[in-house]
Amino acid sequence: MAFTTVEKYLEDAIGLDPESIGTRKLSHTIASCMKHAGITDGAAYLDLIINNAAARDELIEEIVVPETWFFRDSGPFQFLADSFALGDLAATPARPLRILSVPCSSGEEPYSIAMALLDAAVKPKALRIDAVDISGRALTVARQASFGRSSFRGIPGLWQQHFTQEGRFWQLHPDVARLVRFHQGNILEAAIQADWAAQPYQIIFCRNLLIYLTHEARRRVFDRLNNLLEPGGLLFSGHTEVLLFQQFGYSIISDRGCFACRKPQAQEALKPIARRQPVSRPAAPARSTRREAKPGRLIGSPVFATTCTQKADKKEAVLTTVRKLADRGELEHARRLCDQYLRGSGSLNAQAHCLMGEISQAGNMPDAAEQSFLRAVYLDPACYDALVHLSLLYERKGSRDKALLFRQRARRLHGETA
Ligand SMILES: C[S@@+](CC[C@H](N)C(=O)[O-])C[C@H]1O[C@@H](n2cnc3c(N)ncnc32)[C@H](O)[C@@H]1O
Repeated sequence: MAFTTVEKYLEDAIGLDPESIGTRKLSHTIASCMKHAGITDGAAYLDLIINNAAARDELIEEIVVPETWFFRDSGPFQFLADSFALGDLAATPARPLRILSVPCSSGEEPYSIAMALLDAAVKPKALRIDAVDISGRALTVARQASFGRSSFRGIPGLWQQHFTQEGRFWQLHPDVARLVRFHQGNILEAAIQADWAAQPYQIIFCRNLLIYLTHEARRRVFDRLNNLLEPGGLLFSGHTEVLLFQQFGYSIISDRGCFACRKPQAQEALKPIARRQPVSRPAAPARSTRREAKPGRLIGSPVFATTCTQKADKKEAVLTTVRKLADRGELEHARRLCDQYLRGSGSLNAQAHCLMGEISQAGNMPDAAEQSFLRAVYLDPACYDALVHLSLLYERKGSRDKALLFRQRARRLHGETA
């Protein structure tokens, strides 16, 4: 009971979907913060976090997931550099490129943007990068710009030219670090940009946040970002998160591993696609693990959490571990575990095949991803996530007809017209 009211508070304040980090972990964290505050009564603790900013911040620090690393997913940074090289993006000291990274966590993402563009010969004076996060702890690390080994997982060696090694840490050169201005803020609060975003941005990175948020909060984040992005601007998000923006009329950029979309030039194009109850569908094959997709539910929460089926049983625990590994970027480990599961009791589990597809996709193996997603929809024709992934995958491959087919199938699940 005590935890439920605090969970509700967190949902309203920072948009947290308790299921995204696990209700057990959430309860455990709340209990530990209560103990630290010397409070045993839930109502008294709720009162404390409502009225005491320090206690509230401490709870938020314990709840948020600051996982990040340099050049995460690599595609967006390559895309930015290529766009500049091809002349699709222009940046001059007179008209600097305005970029926002939110949430930026401990700074690896905005610093990667800076390094990618400097390496593409953008002049430092032609760049203006703002970076926002709710976590004061993460921002302290970001401002110090000194990083341990885990911030550098899986990236090629070129980054080293921007750092100086100091013992077990790598210090980012001040001429790169000073290109990013950090701000503490809650993306759900309307006042977030009042102090620093004088003009809308041409580019926004909002990756690996929506996966932790409720449907309602995702909508609020969309409104906030939409106000902060200029018409025609680019938005980079996670590979499943990109669908939120597509729902509101943004067009997906079909570039391998990039997960970006573009805001329409005309504001009137930004109409949400109406969501209705799922239409009834023909009965699924007997062996299918098919379930109706939840109305209004976006694909994926967290990134690797497919929503075809969501039963908390033992098998689900294996998949939860796989998702966590994948979310941490431990793709090989995730693949091995998922493969083991699929060879055993999970061979007919559409959710597991879809998850395997997402792992392959994150590992830049589109052909393997395609096979896994196709298996998922064979086993479960209502596997919304797999249908959407297939539609995006075929769009990237240039197979427009197939992309349309799967998009229509996904939309029909929600009773939408294609
Ligand atoms: C997983 S990290 C993502 C960092 C980076 N974008 C990336 O993809 O590597 C999620 C970050 O979201 C921040 N966060 C969570 N809720 C937030 C909110 N309501 N407003 C701003 N930042 C938030 C957390 O503090 C955490 O640093």
